[in-house]
Amino acid sequence: MPVDLRESWFIGEVEIPSRLVLAPMAGVSVQAFRRQGRRYGAGLVCSEMVSVAGIAHKNERTLDYLRVASDEHPLAIQIFGSEPEAMGAAAKAVEAAGADIVDINFGCPVKKVTKTGAGASCLDDPEHAARIVAAVAEATSLPVSVKMRRGVRDGSRDCLVVGPRLVEAGAASITLHPRSAKQMYTGTADHALTAELVSLVDVPVIASGDVTSRARAQAVLATTGCAAVMVGRAAQGNPWALAEIMGDEGEPSREEVVAELLLFIRETVRELGEQRATGFLKKFYGWYLGRGRFPKPFKQELVVLHSIEEVERRLLAAAPGAAEVLERLEAENPPVDEVLLDGLPISIYGGG
Ligand SMILES: Cc1cc2nc3c(=O)[nH]c(=O)nc-3n(C[C@H](O)[C@H](O)[C@H](O)COP(=O)(O)O)c2cc1C
Repeated sequence: MPVDLRESWFIGEVEIPSRLVLAPMAGVSVQAFRRQGRRYGAGLVCSEMVSVAGIAHKNERTLDYLRVASDEHPLAIQIFGSEPEAMGAAAKAVEAAGADIVDINFGCPVKKVTKTGAGASCLDDPEHAARIVAAVAEATSLPVSVKMRRGVRDGSRDCLVVGPRLVEAGAASITLHPRSAKQMYTGTADHALTAELVSLVDVPVIASGDVTSRARAQAVLATTGCAAVMVGRAAQGNPWALAEIMGDEGEPSREEVVAELLLFIRETVRELGEQRATGFLKKFYGWYLGRGRFPKPFKQELVVLHSIEEVERRLLAAAPGAAEVLERLEAENPPVDEVLLDGLPISIYGGG
């Protein structure tokens, strides 16, 4: 029998209204991405990994990651670091910022992170990882979740030892991306390990890796017993993948694609400022306009433009009907106000 993706479930006391989770992705998971993910069916969204050192030093860019909009809940903010005490302090900041869940990154395979003793390198030292989880759980009243890889080396099954240990230390859920850190994003995610982890822990497990369609989501849910599936790359410039996974049929029209991209551009400019947004957005043009939706040279035209205004003009010229769709989307998704409190950007709805 197919699993009902619209069923709600819980991480601690936080109710997650669907069994679809939007993955944290560095350089991608801005507010606009998360708000869009929620609109298309994700029951839980997550910030990209936020540096605990950056939070401690009140680094302006880092604090930007702690912005929470009223329509993002439930939202997890993910932190990475290596020192239990500093992780605990960062968890307090995450709670103050209005997040619903503190997520700990034990999966990042990038050298810059692992060489500091953070990310996936923690999987090599289960006791240290457990100390981090315990310190975070102690510091915050929010549920603590952990996201991890299968282990550091190829073929590793370390997640089956580390996972239960972290639950003992206070983790209220575990997301498993069953590739090794060494694999980065090559090969495939081995969800047979996800099934094994599910059988070993009594907290919800979220399956991450290669979930790209409703058929695949159903298969992973049914064969692993996981509480939810997480979708990352398939949702880049493609919220319709989330809708398809939730059971909605149909490809978007050119007008819908351009209207969603325009809304994304406008929200991102508000969030990052025009200068930062101009470079940040370039990768999204290919993601939205690819997949056979628009001819390749069109994307190449957009990425060399220097102003957002010009990008908007070209997009609307390519799909004039998008203006009307955009107007409706903007009416349905008004900007969310935020205030600054004690140097931390806090949503005025934060905490609520
Ligand atoms: C560009 C990119 C950035 C990522 N950044 C993060 C991150 O900040 N934190 C994290 O836990 N995982 C991160 N991941 C891993 C994803 O959350 C996810 O586990 C992985 O991409 C597998 O899922 P997928 O096949 O659905 O993409 C990132 C992945 C990509 C592609």
